[in-house]
Amino acid sequence: MKNLVVGGAGYVGSVVTRLLVEQGHEVVVLDDCSTGHADSVPAGVELVQDDIGTAGRVLASGDFDAVLHFAAKSLVGESVVKPSMYWRTNVVGTRALLDAITEHGVPRLVFSSTAATYGEPEVVPITEDAPTRPTNTYGATKLAVDMMITNECAATELGAVSLRYFNVAGAAFGAGERHATETHLIPIALDAVLGKRDKLDVFGDDWPTPDGTCVRDYVHVEDLARAHVLALTAAEPGHHLICNLGNGNGFSVKQVIATIEEVTGLPLPHTVGPRRAGDPAQLVASADRAREKLGWVPEHDLARMVADAWEFKQSLGAR
Ligand code: UFG
Repeated sequence: MKNLVVGGAGYVGSVVTRLLVEQGHEVVVLDDCSTGHADSVPAGVELVQDDIGTAGRVLASGDFDAVLHFAAKSLVGESVVKPSMYWRTNVVGTRALLDAITEHGVPRLVFSSTAATYGEPEVVPITEDAPTRPTNTYGATKLAVDMMITNECAATELGAVSLRYFNVAGAAFGAGERHATETHLIPIALDAVLGKRDKLDVFGDDWPTPDGTCVRDYVHVEDLARAHVLALTAAEPGHHLICNLGNGNGFSVKQVIATIEEVTGLPLPHTVGPRRAGDPAQLVASADRAREKLGWVPEHDLARMVADAWEFKQSLGAR
């Protein structure tokens, strides 16, 4: 298959690109490298370093079988402070991409959606039929795109799959997390282990959870990447399938800290501070639909995610 990977220089996009190449697919990456890194795109893959708005020109140049769309602003806190930037990049940018997809008759789309579309859940594990009441701009923009895609599929022959990621972690095929602004728990904690930060701040231990810290569903980026490849074959003309991607197991911040100390064999300096605004207490996925519709079975546990992220962090020091 010939695929256009929009946002293929970012964390998840570059891992998926590498898996597609490994499986013999042809890939072109479109990425403005505003947060991604050109050197994350594997050798032999064409990188068009440009804005998402130019996707039409790339699609016009060849017969693409699919678009995989990862490009987005994705910092929850920033999205609340800068809503205009998030609506423009995530929604207006994707509108242009959808128009280009329709114009050039690309039959398949796989979109990176998020658990943030659900907001504070009434019930965990969260199924795809749960109410979507995002509590931040980031989640609202991703939900808006999911709705645009549903409308597009109903009106055209486009077959699309939205994958709602829970907490992605780990590294695969030599690619991992290297955000200029890092907000995620595991990379921040590993920097504290390495002495690159003095400590990890735990955002509250008075949540209504078993140990008082927030519970999340961590999913290995390699498992996530495999789901994208499965989604390419599951996409049906005129249909929009939405699937959660998580392991279905919740881990608290304290459990993540314990796992990190166990895997690295080093102490993780941390203190407990106030809650972070907008954090839900618990986000755990029901991945039943992904299992049923995509045949997706996640293989890697939290210890493996930490081990792979740790190896990648250490490799960065050596670059
Ligand atoms: N946390 C800390 N200290 C930190 C960073 C995080 O205690 O320095 C805690 C958070 O409070 C949260 C947990 O660790 O309980 C995980 O936080 P992350 O920032 O790693 O991830 P989030 O759960 O906030 O968000 C992630 C993605 C979002 C996505 C969301 C959906 O970053 O893009 O999952 O589940 F929308």
